[in-house]
Amino acid sequence: MKVEGKTYKTVWMEGTSVFMIQQNLLPFQFKIHECKTYWDTCIAITDMVVRGAGAIGAAAGFAMAQAFLTINTKERLKMIREARSDIENTRPTARNLFYAVDRVYRAGLEHTEKAVEEAFAVAREDEENSKAIGVFGSTLFGEKTNILTHCNAGWLAFVDYGTALAPVYLAHEQGKKVFVYVDETRPRAQGGRLTAWELKNADVPHVIIPDNAAATLMAQGKIDVVITGADRIASNGDTANKIGTLDRAILAKEFGVPFYIAAPTSTFDMECNTGKEIPIEKRSQDEVLFQTGVDDNGNRVKIRVCSPGSGAFNPAFDVTPAQYITGIITEKGIVKADKLSIQKLMES
Ligand code: MRU
Repeated sequence: MKVEGKTYKTVWMEGTSVFMIQQNLLPFQFKIHECKTYWDTCIAITDMVVRGAGAIGAAAGFAMAQAFLTINTKERLKMIREARSDIENTRPTARNLFYAVDRVYRAGLEHTEKAVEEAFAVAREDEENSKAIGVFGSTLFGEKTNILTHCNAGWLAFVDYGTALAPVYLAHEQGKKVFVYVDETRPRAQGGRLTAWELKNADVPHVIIPDNAAATLMAQGKIDVVITGADRIASNGDTANKIGTLDRAILAKEFGVPFYIAAPTSTFDMECNTGKEIPIEKRSQDEVLFQTGVDDNGNRVKIRVCSPGSGAFNPAFDVTPAQYITGIITEKGIVKADKLSIQKLMES
């Protein structure tokens, strides 16, 4: 994607360093963050310097390659196994992270160079799959379509293109009239900050809405389709995504609006039988109790927005049961969210 005329990927590797767009500063500052060790990359994933299922998958794959490249102690294999578990302990929900680490680890057992090659392959496939999701997803749009999306499943959440937003970008390029309602997505506001920033850069017409406006908009017939990303999809189609996705899915069913998930096959976890088995990350209560932003002079500020003395509960994801999902847009086509269709998809 282009930022001020220059092409960027969300995350990449040069030598033994991993580089990434520093997403926790966006949209107020655009900076590149360097991770010199696998441990730096782990911290960047945990702190959400890089976030979004595909982007953290690619970052985690690169971190695993960094471990193979830089750990040269006596008990090398033991240390590399520990590095693998450090990387896997950064964030529990996004399947892509575990998928990438496993691929790079296995390749690295053969040769360090293979680990590096595999990490680049994971990142390249993430980008190619996102592009293909854009092609399949854009067929859902007519000449004029109003889309609701939640969180950020745009190019920042992947190596490039994105999933839920890839069809939007393509349709916009094709001259179709697309308009995006962007859920703000509390508590971290990935919609209001990241999705809105992406859409503005690409000149896609959009507006940010408070999270609790979706029902009203659907009741007024203003939404033609809902598309969100996914962090993990169980083999029966139940889907974990950013907290608040379930609400949109239930509303969409009530108001007869199609609800699509857009995700590459690397997000499917065939070992999870249902959504009940998907691990859900709990994040710090400070994300709810405080908000960060910039003041009129461009200084970063953190302010308390909730009553002092009260605690907060902050689950980062929820699970939408398959029955609410109209279809899943993947790099291989659009499939139904049921066991048989998913099994066929994964075998194809
Ligand atoms: O906590 P985040 O910002 O990493 O969560 C991201 C989301 O839930 C996105 O909607 C998601 O990753 C699906 S698209 C990658």
